Amino acid sequence: MTMESETRTAAAPPQADAVGGVVLDRVSKRYGGQAAVDDLSLEIRPGEFLSLLGPSGCGKTTTLRMIAGFEHPDAGDIRISGRSVIGQAPYRRDVNTVFQAYALFPHMTVAQNVAYGLHERRVARVELRARVAEALAMVQMRRFADRKPSQLSGGQQQRVALARALVNRPAVLLLDEPLAALDRKLREEMQLELKLIQAKLGLTFVFVTHDQAEALSMSDRIAVMRDGRIEQLDDATTIYRAPVSAYVASFVGQQNFFSGVVSAVGGEVQTSYGPISTVSTGLSVGQRVRAAVRPEFVELATGSPPGDTNRVEGRLIGVSHLGEAQQYLVQLGPELSVIARVATPLAPKLQIGESVWCSWRAESVQLFPDDEPIATGSLSAPTTTAIPAQ
Ligand SMILES: Nc1ncnc2c1ncn2[C@@H]1O[C@H](COP(=O)(O)OP(=O)(O)O)[C@@H](O)[C@H]1O
Ligand SMILES: [Mg+2]
Repeated sequence: MTMESETRTAAAPPQADAVGGVVLDRVSKRYGGQAAVDDLSLEIRPGEFLSLLGPSGCGKTTTLRMIAGFEHPDAGDIRISGRSVIGQAPYRRDVNTVFQAYALFPHMTVAQNVAYGLHERRVARVELRARVAEALAMVQMRRFADRKPSQLSGGQQQRVALARALVNRPAVLLLDEPLAALDRKLREEMQLELKLIQAKLGLTFVFVTHDQAEALSMSDRIAVMRDGRIEQLDDATTIYRAPVSAYVASFVGQQNFFSGVVSAVGGEVQTSYGPISTVSTGLSVGQRVRAAVRPEFVELATGSPPGDTNRVEGRLIGVSHLGEAQQYLVQLGPELSVIARVATPLAPKLQIGESVWCSWRAESVQLFPDDEPIATGSLSAPTTTAIPAQ
């Protein structure tokens, strides 16, 4: 037994059927003839920050709305804190939802908006005031308590919406792309804040996003969804480093893909650009595969060929400045280019049109069966490159 697995056994995470946990057990939902959610099972642990990640239309919102009680599954069971909520009205469930559209009451002040749910539940005035103040403090909006929503920026309105959900002290907070309408800088600040609030309160967060960077930065675990199902459920590091399919590999982060065939030489894939060495085992000779290499593993050099086993020569056709990194586009052939990304302090100065070598280590290559489509529909993810059809 390794150190790691010993540690894990010692601090076993609380189970999904404990207070604050959510269990989806073989849940399906169809609209017309189409399955929006398809026999989906998922266990969300108490206190966990879990993201549902996937392209538009993969069933994220439908899944969240079924947990909230706004939609009802055609099949399967949903349990919150260990009890089935099938047939239970949304307001009776121990959850609150924050939507992308803030949906604040325009005629009420910030404080009145936040107090609304407590009013409905006839919480006594003194307690109500204290809880509203506390919830507003948590999202740093106390000094805006008397403003109307129209007097607030989008980011401030979203904070109020968050306070309005937190004030009810639900066991589980459901968030459906709550930051999607904010500009990038504000969105990144709010990501940090949300994560801090979640950690401080120890609440379970179920967070829907189509933005892989957002999911990677905030989540304890990420469920990558595809066509109403979960394709992979893992922590961010595992999703990024060990994607189970080309779909996950391309939806989360960027990839360079090379189509080829597993050759008789151990660990090698034959492509139309020559052999690619890998450390993969367990694939059968002759199998069609996609070899994937992330842009940050591709090294660039000019002059004599580099020593790495995997190297191809091409022409530099583009450089983009990403701030912390520089991204290079190197054309290998009429329909294939490779993306390389280098941290800005280490980025080589290269001229457009220059001949450059791209190289990468065998350990950086992942292989996937070549029988599935590549993910599309993500805004922040990936330009994928592919080798021409053979
Ligand atoms: N009320 C509805 N009526 C008909 N089809 C719907 C409805 N809600 C969602 N769908 C369909 O179900 C699928 C999943 O939608 P949704 O859960 O909203 O996806 P996501 O949130 O991942 O973008 C889509 O094909 C969508 O068109
Ligand atoms: Mg949605």
